[in-house]
Amino acid sequence: MKIHSHKFCVAPMMDYTDTHFRYFLRQLSSNIFLYTEMVSCDAIIFGNRDGLLKYHPGEHPVGLQIGGSSIEKMTEAAIIGEAFGYDEINLNIGCPSPRVQKGNFGACLMSDPNLVSEIILAIKKRVKIPVTVKCRLGIDDQDIEKELPIFMNSITGAGVDLVIVHARKAILSGITPKENRTIPELNYNAVYAIKEYISDKEIIINGGINSIGEIYEHLKYTDGVMLGRKIINDPIFALEVDEKLFSPNGNKNLKRIIENYSDYADRQTSIGTSRSQIIKPIMSLFNNRPNAKKWRRGLDQYRNSNYSALDYITELHANFIDGVEFKY
Ligand SMILES: Cc1cc2nc3c(=O)[nH]c(=O)nc-3n(C[C@H](O)[C@H](O)[C@H](O)COP(=O)(O)O)c2cc1C
Repeated sequence: MKIHSHKFCVAPMMDYTDTHFRYFLRQLSSNIFLYTEMVSCDAIIFGNRDGLLKYHPGEHPVGLQIGGSSIEKMTEAAIIGEAFGYDEINLNIGCPSPRVQKGNFGACLMSDPNLVSEIILAIKKRVKIPVTVKCRLGIDDQDIEKELPIFMNSITGAGVDLVIVHARKAILSGITPKENRTIPELNYNAVYAIKEYISDKEIIINGGINSIGEIYEHLKYTDGVMLGRKIINDPIFALEVDEKLFSPNGNKNLKRIIENYSDYADRQTSIGTSRSQIIKPIMSLFNNRPNAKKWRRGLDQYRNSNYSALDYITELHANFIDGVEFKY
């Protein structure tokens, strides 16, 4: 079984990390481990499977994140995911949304380590690819020091291959899923402590990571970092991380990356993908840089036109960078 490097992961993010965003990120770095948005096991089994699971072969390595609490259905979903060629099955044990709680999965499973372990055991009997978990430090008033080691020991005993920990608790009532990404306090030391007591498992740290300096610091104590919102808001940061962590002499060329993506965009729109979907991954490309508005306005014009992306977006980029100093 091959576990790909998870030194640098981009987080599963609903409504963002779809196949187009992942394809674009792959142009920025060949070293990112990518994840799908969470897909419920019911959707995989009963829904439009191709629509939900199809991806571009150039995205690899990419993990499929699944959500659910039925041992049988989670196993069936994992088998289907493996057949689609995903490199990993990741179990969502961190989502606090009311809809997910109603299905008794996501973060609420932090209080049921036995069930999570049974799901892992059952899936591992049937698939060959790694089975990993993305979880929180705990939920509500759980005592992290007491209950987190129980959870970790349990899933380790079941053979989990790697664990990603969002370094904060989830609060299951009274705050929104969005607030659950800011209000519960970040506690990186609790994640470092997990790595100390289960040192033979890869532990990936997630939550609030925004700079190269922070990444270096986390890598002293864990095996990898997972970034979410920073990459949505500033995708070029993925280029910087790639250069710093993997290819110090790398010569990434944003112009070529944009050309590749525009070519991909034309192929996608010719088979019916909407222009809105296609431009979403590159909309925030130059946020906080000079002329960011000009870029976004240009993409809006492309959205409302019949122009080819290869003509229009590459031209937009050429005009955009004209006279502006950029590293990439
Ligand atoms: C818009 C959005 C959607 C998300 N969807 C998922 C998801 O489908 N599955 C999941 O495990 N976490 C999801 N998350 C949580 C992220 O994976 C990550 O754990 C969280 O944003 C903290 O990392 P960050 O501070 O680097 O953004 C989502 C986060 C955002 C912002």
